[in-house]
Amino acid sequence: MECYKFQLVAIVSLVLLLPSTHGWGKEGHAIVCKIAQSRLSDAAADAVKQLLPAYAQNDLSSVCSWADSVRFYTRWSGPLHFADSPDKLCNYDFDRDCKDQSGVKGRCVVGAIGNFTDQLLTYKTKSNSEYNLTQSLLYLSHFMGDVHQPLHVGFTSDKGGNTIEVRWFRKKENLHHIWDVSIIETAEEKYYNSNMDDFTADLQKNITKGSWAKEVKGWETCDNNEVSCANVYASEGIKEACEYAYKDVTDGETLSDDYFESRLPVVQLRLAQGGVRLAATLNRIFG
Ligand SMILES: *[C@@H]1O[C@H](CO)[C@@H](O)[C@H](O)[C@H]1NC(C)=O
Ligand SMILES: *[C@@H]1O[C@H](CO)[C@@H](O)[C@H](O)[C@H]1NC(C)=O
Ligand SMILES: *[C@@H]1O[C@H](CO)[C@@H](O)[C@H](O)[C@H]1NC(C)=O
Ligand SMILES: [Zn+2]
Repeated sequence: MECYKFQLVAIVSLVLLLPSTHGWGKEGHAIVCKIAQSRLSDAAADAVKQLLPAYAQNDLSSVCSWADSVRFYTRWSGPLHFADSPDKLCNYDFDRDCKDQSGVKGRCVVGAIGNFTDQLLTYKTKSNSEYNLTQSLLYLSHFMGDVHQPLHVGFTSDKGGNTIEVRWFRKKENLHHIWDVSIIETAEEKYYNSNMDDFTADLQKNITKGSWAKEVKGWETCDNNEVSCANVYASEGIKEACEYAYKDVTDGETLSDDYFESRLPVVQLRLAQGGVRLAATLNRIFG
């Protein structure tokens, strides 16, 4: 009995320690959701409040990584966190790239965003949805973050940078993790006294007043009256992966100040776009 208990504890600890290789880290996702929730229309804010689990206390950012935390026991959701494109092509095509490892079409982050958008559209039309719309909201909010992490639409053979081993300053790290977590962490340590809220506030200031203010309308728009348009975000993502994330990186090298300073603006842009677009999508859904 004791032995079994010990094993259980060991397994649970191991699972908790496993690195999350599928998404911005907790902070990146929280930032996206925090920006989004501050931009909701009254109707969308109300729907989100109704749908959030009570323990979230109406704070979407607190449950923005829920989709990562259930990955281990919802195996079907694994492929929905990313899309892989052919090596070195630097473009994305839904028919070609949005599939899981066994080739089932639509099973990638772009298909998932469409899926959970469609589910949430039943909130207004049906009093008793066949879906758990709380989960639909948490999935949509999470995947909207993922699709904006450039290496979530990366190359197939290196699994979006997961197999590229480098050093981040002195620490061994893979390239994917550097984009999920390290660049954000280093920025917060260096410029914000490790305070995520101050970093988020700066992003919000740039969205409303700063350099991005004129572009925001364009970020929000979906062509053809679509409610969500993640194909566009995935196409931007692989371009940025090629131009910034993969660029000039070789296996085993050390990435430090130069890489950090030149890539941070891209991370900032993608976090801001993720938040703005999540809000715009929720506003269209709950209108
Ligand atoms: C759509 O959501 C359902 C859960 O409601 C899930 O079973 C299915 O795998 C999802 N498909 C995609 C492409 O997201
Ligand atoms: C819907 O999903 C949430 C989050 O997993 C869960 O807490 C809740 O009990 C579910 N609701 C129903 C009606 O199954
Ligand atoms: C905000 O914009 C300024 C000016 O372009 C830039 O230097 C700064 O890094 C941006 N900060 C964030 C958090 O986006
Ligand atoms: Zn994810």
